[in-house]
Amino acid sequence: MGGGKKKGSRGAQALSSTVRFDRRALWTLNAVPKKSVYGETLRPFNGREHRRWDPNRSKLAAAMLRTRRDPGLLLPEQGTTILYLGAGHGTSVSHLYDHLCGQQNRMNGRLVCVDLAPRCLRDLTFMAAARPGLVPVLGDARKHAEWGVLLPRRVNWLFQDVAQAGQVDIFIRACERFLMPDGLGLLSLKAASERWTGDGEAALFAGVESALMEAGYNLEESIELTGFEDNHRLFVVRKPR
Ligand SMILES: C[S@@+](CC[C@H](N)C(=O)[O-])C[C@H]1O[C@@H](n2cnc3c(N)ncnc32)[C@H](O)[C@@H]1O
Repeated sequence: MGGGKKKGSRGAQALSSTVRFDRRALWTLNAVPKKSVYGETLRPFNGREHRRWDPNRSKLAAAMLRTRRDPGLLLPEQGTTILYLGAGHGTSVSHLYDHLCGQQNRMNGRLVCVDLAPRCLRDLTFMAAARPGLVPVLGDARKHAEWGVLLPRRVNWLFQDVAQAGQVDIFIRACERFLMPDGLGLLSLKAASERWTGDGEAALFAGVESALMEAGYNLEESIELTGFEDNHRLFVVRKPR
């Protein structure tokens, strides 16, 4: 994170040098000026163009608006290497890039994003052309042998949003292999993707919390996303040192 909170122009609050809070919305400093990625609004703060980060299209943005803690705690450190599993068409990835790398990757970050859908990879590859440091990977989050070579060192921020059955096991295995001690893992979990046991969503989410803690992770927060993304929750864990 880049510095403490500051009041900027027109009441927007800076979470870092690249991310702003404006009442109910988030904004990131556009790494590719004049370009909108998914039709989002562009607007200047202090003369610098920002993109509106839509919480209805990004579970990370929704979690940042819902967290009871400082939303900046959910972001990776600028200029580091991060791993994103289930990148989709790159909505959240594009904003993470703004924060992690900046224009022409002046911060020297690296964002490895994995998705198994060729259509998603096509969009991510297009996005990467103007964003050095963005590394799209066509692969299965469960099959580390296919793409793990791209991460010779462990990362200190790992995000997963694969919306398929067995999300917790996939996440725990990925954290075991790729997350460094004291690193932050964020699991976006879609209840409807899991096999229905008949016990209800609350029981399912409680089971996820238990599984994460039994695997040895410290559960920092469990963030309800209903309203932005129904039947979703974001679990934030810290790997023990
Ligand atoms: C909900 S979408 C991701 C949206 C994206 N995280 C965002 O915020 O813009 C889920 C994605 O996970 C991908 N996916 C599902 N199972 C996967 C797996 N085993 N490995 C990699 N990607 C997977 C799907 O292809 C889909 O693009």
